[in-house]
Amino acid sequence: MTLTSSFDDGSLRLDGSLLAGKVDPAAVDSLQGAVGEAVEKLHAGTGKGADFLGWLDPLKMLDDEELVRLRDAARKLRDQTDHLVVIGIGGSYLGARACYEALRPVTPASRGYSLTYAGINLSAQYHLDLLDSLRDKKFAINVISKSGTTTEPGIAFRIFRSHLEDRVGRQNARGLIVATTDGRKGALRELAQSQGWETFVVPDDVGGRFSVLTPVGLLPLAYAGIDIDALVGGATECAVACREKTLERNPSRLYATVRHLLYRAGLSIELMVAFEPRLAQLIEWWKQLYGESEGKDGKGLFPAGAIYSRDLHSLGQWVQDGPRILFETFLSADSGEPSLSVPSAANKEDSADGLDYLARRQLSDINRLAQEATRVAHASGGCPNMGMYVHKLDAYHLGVLIYFFEYACALSGYLSDINPFDQPGVEVYKRKMFALLGKPGFDNPD
Ligand code: PA5
Repeated sequence: MTLTSSFDDGSLRLDGSLLAGKVDPAAVDSLQGAVGEAVEKLHAGTGKGADFLGWLDPLKMLDDEELVRLRDAARKLRDQTDHLVVIGIGGSYLGARACYEALRPVTPASRGYSLTYAGINLSAQYHLDLLDSLRDKKFAINVISKSGTTTEPGIAFRIFRSHLEDRVGRQNARGLIVATTDGRKGALRELAQSQGWETFVVPDDVGGRFSVLTPVGLLPLAYAGIDIDALVGGATECAVACREKTLERNPSRLYATVRHLLYRAGLSIELMVAFEPRLAQLIEWWKQLYGESEGKDGKGLFPAGAIYSRDLHSLGQWVQDGPRILFETFLSADSGEPSLSVPSAANKEDSADGLDYLARRQLSDINRLAQEATRVAHASGGCPNMGMYVHKLDAYHLGVLIYFFEYACALSGYLSDINPFDQPGVEVYKRKMFALLGKPGFDNPD
């Protein structure tokens, strides 16, 4: 058995050729019974957290009528503004940001329409800077909170809403605020109803970190001009491809299997790296997906991220020679990178930089070779790694990648016998903070 796998349409492939000596192909084979059981539990809805499986079918998360309403809402906001402040934290903003940052350079319709993010920290300076940056912009607000009670977005929403109302008046601001929240309950739902803001629903059976293909992610992305049909289309195709039983044709099974075996072999960190900076926010999204899903009951790989080659000059030393407790996953796109070549030297003096051997070479080519070299170097230093290749960085393939990660995450969780769909640890911090801040009903900080 080779430790490589590709979806039949070539949308995503996983190369585990540098896992040799760390992952035994026989162990991969013998884990397939357990993987098959995890798949069955997932689709039969008999595993842990089965109330949160709405993401399994991307087309069921938003019916056609709602999709039309969502597009309409995005269009109305675009007609009046050039800027959308997305207010939410964790799963309520990371997916939209990941897609926006990854796709913006290849989305002509996004020009002139930008997203910024508030409610992701409690820094006064951050919020003041953001307010300042909006001074000359016409902006709208999409406030997103499934519970409707999270402190950070709640505070940010007060700040930005009052700023908007001061600027355009309370009545006009009504048409510039959209709330995405629970369908029935929560403070945000009540507030939105009383104020007459347009609302969208986070489905009951979809947790925050699995919600990017619901209105949570789709409304801001539609505003930004991202092709949300292609995004959902890619995820839908991937949902079919993930049902494949043959390991060589289903990288989601191989990814879940390999990371589980590496964890069982004593590694405790998965470092997701990319040589493409526009994937940085996707790695942030992945960190939340895997961190919140797997880090519980004293178990779980710690999901870390890095952007190379920048971080090869900071973390690289540790990865090459530090404690052998991590493995890497190299995320990249196979094709579609823009063209930019190294200029030739104008004269002999300019050749003094010693780079003539690279003259006229494409940056994408140099970047690819830097990645290959790094993979081999790190493997030789005892850091096993996988290559994860998405065919192209466009909306369709990003949809594939999102679903691929979600599906593999669910399988990984079931392999470790945990509930991948809850986040009790996050709730502990929220309750402690409520108590210290004096929120009524939370008066005991212990
Ligand atoms: O994935 C999750 O469930 C969390 O990260 C939440 O998205 C985050 O805590 C924000 O919660 P809410 O959307 O209720 O404000």
